[in-house]
Amino acid sequence: MPHLDWKNLPLDATAVAAASAAGFDYRLVDTSDEEAYGAAMAAIRRGFLDDEGTAEQLQAGLDDIRFRRFTGVYDSGSPTPATPIATVASWVAELTVPGRATLPMWAISDVTVAATHRRRGLARILLEGELRTAADAGLPLAGLTVSEATIYSRFGFAPAAFATTAEITTSRTAWIGPRPAGRLDYLDRQALAREFAELHARVRLDRVGTIDAWPGLWERLAGATPGQEKATAIRGVRWTDAAGTTRGIVSYRIVENHDDFSRNTLEVQHLMAETPDAAAALWRFLLEHDLVSVVRASLLSVDEPLRWMVADPRGIRETRVDHEWLRILDVPRVLTARRHSGPGSTVMSVTDPLGYAEGTWRLTVDDDGAATVDRVEAAADLTLPVTELAAILLGGVRPSTLRAAGRIEGDEDAALALDRMFASDRVPHLGFWY
Ligand SMILES: CC(C)(COP(=O)(O)OP(=O)(O)OC[C@H]1O[C@@H](n2cnc3c(N)ncnc32)[C@H](O)[C@@H]1OP(=O)(O)O)[C@@H](O)C(=O)NCCC(=O)NCCS
Repeated sequence: MPHLDWKNLPLDATAVAAASAAGFDYRLVDTSDEEAYGAAMAAIRRGFLDDEGTAEQLQAGLDDIRFRRFTGVYDSGSPTPATPIATVASWVAELTVPGRATLPMWAISDVTVAATHRRRGLARILLEGELRTAADAGLPLAGLTVSEATIYSRFGFAPAAFATTAEITTSRTAWIGPRPAGRLDYLDRQALAREFAELHARVRLDRVGTIDAWPGLWERLAGATPGQEKATAIRGVRWTDAAGTTRGIVSYRIVENHDDFSRNTLEVQHLMAETPDAAAALWRFLLEHDLVSVVRASLLSVDEPLRWMVADPRGIRETRVDHEWLRILDVPRVLTARRHSGPGSTVMSVTDPLGYAEGTWRLTVDDDGAATVDRVEAAADLTLPVTELAAILLGGVRPSTLRAAGRIEGDEDAALALDRMFASDRVPHLGFWY
């Protein structure tokens, strides 16, 4: 895709008109204007139920995500008219899809509507505006991580990568996994942020569902953001293999139990491993930590090998959550970008209330897993909404499961054939929020 000056794309005229009809002003936030951008950030903090923050925290928040394109909706009747009553931010990220390939994705974040202005259609104006902007700019899909699973399917998004939250009772999880040669070392928080960034850049093409990240993300996960709450409690440990190469990093903090100092809780902030050995060494470090009786971790892969490396897997209580939601805007581009797992041909009729993916498409996959997609006028083997196509895109949800749930219509054999084509050798996993 040629370079796209996405931060300065024009405002979506339909959204501007819809906001105006509702009595509001819809405009881009100038992120070089500290006052206007600061007011938008204050609205975002309020929208996500954060406190106002210290001056240092606010400044760090501004610097962290200044690269994004911010849109605000303003109410001139408000006593604080410079503070938007609704916000959204977006940027072009690279999403890893099966086959070590990437797709440019319109990443959407910071969606808030002031509690005083909720349920008047402002989020709809913003979201539909974002999708039109992305589609007009030639982006093939959009993505987001969500506060609630009930909001975004109406806009065509569906969960495509899931995550596991784990609570581990260390007295039950004696280590029976690998004990690879290598060494563990503490890192200071700046080094931790830097090494997270370097390792992620190295592994991200092998992580279906992840995106390229931004420096502020690693600083936050390492406790290196200026003014960050409880940052000094965050510790970081790196594992280097026998050859001295960093293969895994974990950041965590310990929540003390003042009634019993042998029963503290260790909360994992982020664990990143390039190799199974690195994952084993870091997990063993965490589970065998003295004075810790519970380890908590979230946003783990749903296929996390940890449960196979402990004596009693029931010592790990797991909860599965939807995490990354995708919205397909260009069917041929998303399906031809990813590698498929088996050859085949199927005709899919895709319904899309917003029109982007609507149509009947023949998907043909050759022996090498490369796909071609053509718009056809033919009887469909399967009929599915755009949301279901997004759910199966990364290979984390089986088409036959969605057929069994009544979400995809058509012949069972056609759904099973699609299972084989869409299977991914990597379970989709995104280990952070964006
Ligand atoms: C979620 C939020 C952005 C919705 O904003 P809003 O302006 O009230 O939403 P709208 O009025 O545009 O509603 C659009 C549609 O979504 C539905 N909807 C909105 N919020 C919803 C929610 N939390 N759960 C379920 N449905 C919701 C509305 O009922 C409406 O449905 P319909 O048009 O299909 O009948 C707003 O409540 C908010 O800021 N929440 C706190 C921050 C947050 O969670 N942001 C989302 C981050 S991912």
